[in-house]
Amino acid sequence: GVDAGGSPAGADFVVVANRLPVDKVVADDGTVTWRRSPGGLVTALEPILRQRTGAWVGWSGIADSDDNPDIEGIDIHAVPLSSQEIAEYYEGFSNATLWPLYHDVIVKPEYHREWWNTYVEVNRRFAEATCKAAAHGALVWVQDYQLQLVPKMLRMLRPDLRIGFFLHIPFPPIELFLQNPWRTEIVEGLLGADLIGFHLPGGAQNFLYLARRLAGQATSKGTVGVRSRFGVVQVGFRTVRVGAFPISIDSGELDAKARSKAVRARAAEIRKELGNPRTVMLGVDRLDYTKGIDVRLIALSELFAEKRLDPHETAMVQLATPSRERVDSYIQMRAGIEQLVGNINGNFAEVGQPVVQYLHRPVPRDELIAFFVAADVMLVTPLRDGMNLVAKEYVACRNDLGGALVLSEFTGAAAELKSAYQANPYDLDGVKDAIEAAATQTDQEGRRRMRALRRQVLTHDVDKWARSFLGTLAEDPSTAPSGGRG
Ligand code: ADP
Ligand code: G6P
Repeated sequence: GVDAGGSPAGADFVVVANRLPVDKVVADDGTVTWRRSPGGLVTALEPILRQRTGAWVGWSGIADSDDNPDIEGIDIHAVPLSSQEIAEYYEGFSNATLWPLYHDVIVKPEYHREWWNTYVEVNRRFAEATCKAAAHGALVWVQDYQLQLVPKMLRMLRPDLRIGFFLHIPFPPIELFLQNPWRTEIVEGLLGADLIGFHLPGGAQNFLYLARRLAGQATSKGTVGVRSRFGVVQVGFRTVRVGAFPISIDSGELDAKARSKAVRARAAEIRKELGNPRTVMLGVDRLDYTKGIDVRLIALSELFAEKRLDPHETAMVQLATPSRERVDSYIQMRAGIEQLVGNINGNFAEVGQPVVQYLHRPVPRDELIAFFVAADVMLVTPLRDGMNLVAKEYVACRNDLGGALVLSEFTGAAAELKSAYQANPYDLDGVKDAIEAAATQTDQEGRRRMRALRRQVLTHDVDKWARSFLGTLAEDPSTAPSGGRG
């Protein structure tokens, strides 16, 4: 089945994700265009499928559409969702139950039986679509919290498949996971896979504990390593492996783009458009309450009020992609952030010279890279984040060794990016100190830190992530040495 182009035999490699790599956009006059889907999952997986032939099973982002966009080299299988399924499976169980539960209950998760029932139903639909897409014996890679039941459903339908699962968001502390009324079904759903991947060893270890406690399976008890020392769950005659595989970006491609003349010129132009301030600060996020956009704005506001930073010499740019706009907690959070932006400008700006500039829209990729190159201080302050690719993208764009990264300790990236200015996002004084230190660092200190950050990001790219996960998945666990890969 190397011929992925819709061959009846199906593909040997299948990615299954809630989203397709592109989002369907229908204009007022009915014309259809496709644009890159939001978020880190697509950023990471898109280059992987560009390199391998295969199929991608996912949803187009709008109701009742089974249109398949044309993407060269990828056999797309759109899974249609009705408006009610979007409300109950996507906005409801995925993003108002699981998302807040897995992100430290920053917002209170809501538990509704109808949402759960629809989650089960839609997971079944994805499993069935995957059966159609996959050749006999294919390698299937299921992605993220929206599809945690798919591995088990798929195994029952198609025991010939080799099944991997990767969770792109944090796996929560045990006590929080136990809130979920359907916790056992979810653990058993995941255990349908041959390999279950998390960003961090801690998540893998929490999962192993829950597999013992909730599913009653025998598991290994040693510590899990990074891309090594995998945990093992014995499910009847099957061996399921559990590991930590920190995701990354196409570092080489970003590095090359950031060096290009066009991007450098655009970066200089951006600084000029901002009025050539001494310090350009930047935030780049989906508009999500986990990202701590409020944390950085409040910290900045206090730094200005205390005269530790000069608002006339500082320009803060916040680029925020619209996200999950019909979910209540997102509607409230957006209002709060827009109020903070207005508040800071009201207090510290001059006419024609705003302190915070805020765009509520996705920015084209090349333009985004120019912003990374233009920024002296990158503010990444999530209250919790599985990885945070933005932090890695910023580092990859700074071959000039300029700039400084302020990074929340509660991102997966913090485990790798030790030379960032790290802070606990709940400790406002700590965040302020980190921002001030980053804004006033010496050139020499900045270069030393950026060099160390780049060494990590350039040697651990998304291709290494995919190769270590897929290589482990392809191994026969009964003969494979425990870990050591990558
Ligand atoms: P998440 O997956 O939670 O959205 P990540 O930081 O891991 O967070 O990934 C976000 C991805 O979306 C990155 O590739 C980033 O460049 C991109 N992105 C975020 N905000 C914007 C924006 N305003 N415009 C364009 N791309 C964005
Ligand atoms: C995070 C999740 C992804 C999701 C993305 C964008 O990265 O881990 O699964 O696709 O956010 O969110 P959305 O709800 O728009 O798909």
